[in-house]
Amino acid sequence: MHDETVAIHGGYTPDMTRAVAVPIYQTIAHQFDDAAHAGAVFDLDIPGFHYNRLNNPTNDVLERRLATLEGGTGAVVVASGAAAVNYSILNLAAMNDNIVTAPQLYGSTYTLFAHVLASQGIEVRFATDDRPECIEPLIDDATKAIFCESVGNPALNVVDLEAVSELAHRHGVPLIVDNTIATPMYLKPIEHGADVVVHSLTKFIGGHGTTLGGAIIDAGRFPWADHPDKFPSFNRPEPAFHGVVYAEQFAEAPYAVRCRTVSLRNSGSTLSPLGAFLLLQGLETLAVRLERHESNTRAIAQYLADDPRVEWLSYLGDPSFAYYDLAQRYLKGHCPSIITFGVAGGYDAGIRFFDSVKLFKRLVNMGDAKSLVAHPASTTHRQLSPEALAMVGVAPETIRLSIGIEHVDDLIDDIDQALSAAL
Ligand SMILES: Cc1ncc(COP(=O)(O)O)c(C=O)c1O
Repeated sequence: MHDETVAIHGGYTPDMTRAVAVPIYQTIAHQFDDAAHAGAVFDLDIPGFHYNRLNNPTNDVLERRLATLEGGTGAVVVASGAAAVNYSILNLAAMNDNIVTAPQLYGSTYTLFAHVLASQGIEVRFATDDRPECIEPLIDDATKAIFCESVGNPALNVVDLEAVSELAHRHGVPLIVDNTIATPMYLKPIEHGADVVVHSLTKFIGGHGTTLGGAIIDAGRFPWADHPDKFPSFNRPEPAFHGVVYAEQFAEAPYAVRCRTVSLRNSGSTLSPLGAFLLLQGLETLAVRLERHESNTRAIAQYLADDPRVEWLSYLGDPSFAYYDLAQRYLKGHCPSIITFGVAGGYDAGIRFFDSVKLFKRLVNMGDAKSLVAHPASTTHRQLSPEALAMVGVAPETIRLSIGIEHVDDLIDDIDQALSAAL
């Protein structure tokens, strides 16, 4: 089926109530028939649910739908995108291991990598750029994965996924891709070699600024068994879950199953069933919302490009933008609804624009039906040093717009008056 259809119907088989909307299974636990049934469910020998921290029938539909959309064999939904990124690393790396990452990252992902994982003994090595030749020299025997955002937030770089996945696989490590900005409607990283896809569902997929959520999707084809010493947690009996050997017993989606049964089960960043329901509602309309997001974005970008008050402008629909060719190749000619731009006057001018908008909402989110404005240097990225800011692609004056689905003329009127106030 086509993506638009999967987003509405995928993964859902109605229960005996025949409810047409996916029910919110507001329950913590599910009953067992007897001890034998309980044992089989616990050991994952038969499908079933036992305790909501691991899974729930509402969350299960969202997982199946996302796995189908991304072309994966299994998925785990969690309470936030940040939890998804964290688990995606903790599922395969431990103390004294390292991860190599493209440098253009969402602010909290940068902080997680540079400080939190480091404090747990997992070194994250930042390439100077997202090109394969900048990533490859950082890989050594202790490297457990390469990480990147398919479209960087807020740098809007587009990673050459086929080249980076080729080099990851040549070194025997998986490629983990955060596909939040692109969404599977524009780009499916697994088709280009990614082994794991993560999402903040909070953004375009939820789409209404109501619900935090994250997802981890397993492509199901990384050959863990070929690397028994590098990836012991997939190849040796798992002490944290009944001694199972994931690469053998769950060969279809070993990464997703381990993520659920070790990370999620034991540390519990679980998405609530109501959260899963709201994210499913968002997913149903994702394709049509994206059409309006994109047409508004192109019109606003054209307006900004023609305005002498604007010093620079980045968006993926601009043929002169450094990543335009990669965007054409990987995003099927689409343009995500994120625009970054700067006006003369540096940090202070950025703040003045930010303070002056009336319709755009001043907040730190994106992908909402509402248009949003952010000044990363004073908000999401304020903890970063000037050097770290430059590395992740944020200038002091950078304004990030997340273009919503309102009438475009009202949005342009608001930008016009805020630009005047900024200068
Ligand atoms: C690319 C990207 N990944 C991960 C996250 C974290 O997601 P959440 O806010 O749902 O924890 C964000 C949040 O903005 C993001 O933009």
